[in-house]
Amino acid sequence: MTTPKKLFIKTYGCQMNVYDSERMAETLGGEGYVQTEVAEDADMILLNTCHIREKAAEKVYSELGRLKPLKAAKPDLKIGVAGCVAQAEGEEIMRRQPAVDLVVGPQTYHRLPQMEAALRQGKKALDTDFPEEDKFEKMKSRPKAKRAPSAFLTVQEGCDKFCAFCVVPYTRGAEVSRPVDRVLSEARDLASRGVREITLLGQNVNAYHGAGADGSEKTLADLIWALNEVEGLERIRFTTSHPNDMQDDLLQAHRDCPKLMPYLHLPVQSGSDKILKRMNRSHTAESYLQIIDRLRAARPDILLSGDFIVGFPEETEEDFQATLELIRQVNYGYAYSFKYSTRPGTPAAERAQVDPDEADDRLQRIQALITEQQQAIQASMVGRDLNVLIEKPGRFDGQMVGKSEYLHAVHIDDSTAKIGDIVPVRITEAKRNSLAAVTRE
Ligand code: 5AD
Ligand code: SF4
Repeated sequence: MTTPKKLFIKTYGCQMNVYDSERMAETLGGEGYVQTEVAEDADMILLNTCHIREKAAEKVYSELGRLKPLKAAKPDLKIGVAGCVAQAEGEEIMRRQPAVDLVVGPQTYHRLPQMEAALRQGKKALDTDFPEEDKFEKMKSRPKAKRAPSAFLTVQEGCDKFCAFCVVPYTRGAEVSRPVDRVLSEARDLASRGVREITLLGQNVNAYHGAGADGSEKTLADLIWALNEVEGLERIRFTTSHPNDMQDDLLQAHRDCPKLMPYLHLPVQSGSDKILKRMNRSHTAESYLQIIDRLRAARPDILLSGDFIVGFPEETEEDFQATLELIRQVNYGYAYSFKYSTRPGTPAAERAQVDPDEADDRLQRIQALITEQQQAIQASMVGRDLNVLIEKPGRFDGQMVGKSEYLHAVHIDDSTAKIGDIVPVRITEAKRNSLAAVTRE
């Protein structure tokens, strides 16, 4: 028997990359690779990269620099770069770091087997096409191994919105939705392997418009209702959404669909209409707040999360204050804030930049407000009866950790709870990053 080759994958960036890495590992599994957690043991190292901000992209080059000596010690080692940096920079990566053998963009992962064969012949391989075919259908199906109780499932990819700061439309390409039956069969397969919670992924997931079995176009709400029927699957989430695609049927699903969790990530980016316009967001602060009102009317306990960019070109203190005001009005359970990062090729890259110290200061102020809100919402969970999907053992003996409906990490001192169980609990304490609970009868 030949010993299997070992594959080490390091994933950067968003959840879609996590899903893609799983699928790449399965595809290369078909070529005789097993995954290792130790880079030094690997025959192939793949970095699945993120290009969203400059820092994310630069991390890739410093990691490649660290990997170079491994290759010097083991000349047969193959080093590959996948993901959005691969798409955006292509050949430039091999020029900057000659130790790289493979560059593969997000839309050509199904061609990995041929590319791997080329590497074995001592060639280099580069593919950053945007082919017509559905890569996920052409990739090896998942092995039947048991899975963790929570899984990602990509249903939509790419973006046609072209926000002025964002590289996604260039790195992931145009918006494409996978057909409903393919999503359903993948979801059934995941459920049969122990998955209880699925997070549907898409850069613009609420713009989903996949083909139904009858050929008609289905919305994300239609897809969620279809998934609601999948036996064994207990929780449905989706991310990430755009305010302009929050249709009524999705609001209604939040009101009526039993398995859809009361949580929504709905980035707004700024609370200033002037900046929103310059960002090409095509919504206003007011129209966003109206959606939030309608959502809360449909599902009063829904927990909201969002993304914010500070220091976008031409953002004044007054614009920034409008963002803080919007945050105060919404009251977020979670929120992610970023300092604007110039991305080559995007429209905003050409504009006058905000003073970096000023942007740093705004970032600190926005993060202080967000942290205050997050912690107040966590604290408000104390005394509530929730349900926790158990994911893993906790740090202490006899402790188990999982997630509430609202995505808070919850730990319970009950060693009888098994991974994959959904346990009724009462929240007893809010810690900094998690909640403590006791089980209910
Ligand atoms: N600079 C800073 N943050 C950005 N994001 C996207 N592009 C940039 C950029 N150029 C943020 C947005 C988006 C999240 C995924 O990343 O807030 O919602
Ligand atoms: Fe980027 Fe999201 Fe805007 Fe699309 S909608 S361009 S992915 S920020």
